Amino acid sequence: MHPLVNIAVSAARTAGNFISRSIDRVDTLTIESKGRNDFVTQVDRSAEAEIIKVIRKAYPQHAVLGEETGASGDNEVVWIIDPLDGTTNFLHGLPHFAVSIGIQVRGKLEHGVIYAPSTQDLYIATRGGGATLNNRKIRGSTAKELDSALIGTGIPIKPELLDAYLPMLKTIASNSAGIRRAGSAALDLAYVAAGRLDGFFELGLKPWDMAAGIVLVQEAGGTVTELYDPRGDVMKTGHILAAPHKLHAQLSDALRGAAQPIVPAE
Ligand code: IPD
Ligand code: CA
Ligand code: CA
Repeated sequence: MHPLVNIAVSAARTAGNFISRSIDRVDTLTIESKGRNDFVTQVDRSAEAEIIKVIRKAYPQHAVLGEETGASGDNEVVWIIDPLDGTTNFLHGLPHFAVSIGIQVRGKLEHGVIYAPSTQDLYIATRGGGATLNNRKIRGSTAKELDSALIGTGIPIKPELLDAYLPMLKTIASNSAGIRRAGSAALDLAYVAAGRLDGFFELGLKPWDMAAGIVLVQEAGGTVTELYDPRGDVMKTGHILAAPHKLHAQLSDALRGAAQPIVPAE
C-alpha cells in the first residue's frame, strides 16, 4: 500500500470509530445549521480534527482542504477531507454515512479512501493501482443500457439547482430501472465503483464530497465527468456524472438532453 494511503486509512478508521462511538449520544448533540438542510455537529468537527491530527503527525508539511476547517497549508500534496458524509442520515440514526479522504498531488487526484463505520466497509483506490473494497478488487457494473440500470442521485436544496435538476430526475426515473437517493455522495460513488449502483449524478457537490470517490470510480473502470460539459472540471462545478464506461455516454446524453441551465437566484 502506498505510504499516503496507509495514513489515509489510519485517519479514516480513527474518525470512523469516533463517529460510531458518538451514535449513542446523537440526542445530546448540539446541531448547528450552516444553511437550509445543511447541518453540522461537534461530531463532524471532532472527526475532522482527528483526521488532521493523524495526517499532520505523518506529514506536517502537507496541505489540507477540510469541509469543517477549510484550506490550510501550501504544498503540492493536498488532503481533501469530508469527516462525515451523510450527516443528516447520522442525525436520524440511519446507518449510511462515511468518512472520505482524497489525496491530490500536483493538482491531480491520486488516492481515495472511503470508510463506512456502520458496515466497516473500506474502499481504497490509487491511480494506476486499481480499486478495492475490504482488500478485494472491485469493478464497476457491466450495465450497458439505461433501461436496466439502477442510478444513484442526490436532490439539491438550492432553488436554482432544484429547477435545473428536476427535469433530469424525470428523464432518468422514466428511462431507468430505478433511482436511489441514499444521502451520502461519497458512498454513492463508492457504490458505483463496486458495481452496486450502475451510475450516479448530482448537482452542486463540493470537492470533499467527490475527491476520494472519483479516484475509486475511475480505478474501477468507470468514467467521471462534469455533467453539463464533459470536458469541464467537475471538482470546480460539483455537477457530477459517474458511470461504468459503457453506460456513461447514454446516461450523459439523457441527462444533458433534459438539463436546464442553472439560473442563479437574484
Ligand atoms: C451531503 C451528502 C449528500 C449530498 C449533499 C452533501 P454532508 O454531504 O453527500 O448525499 O446530497 O449534497 O452535502 O453534508 O452530509 O457531508
Ligand atoms: Ca459531504
Ligand atoms: Ca460532511
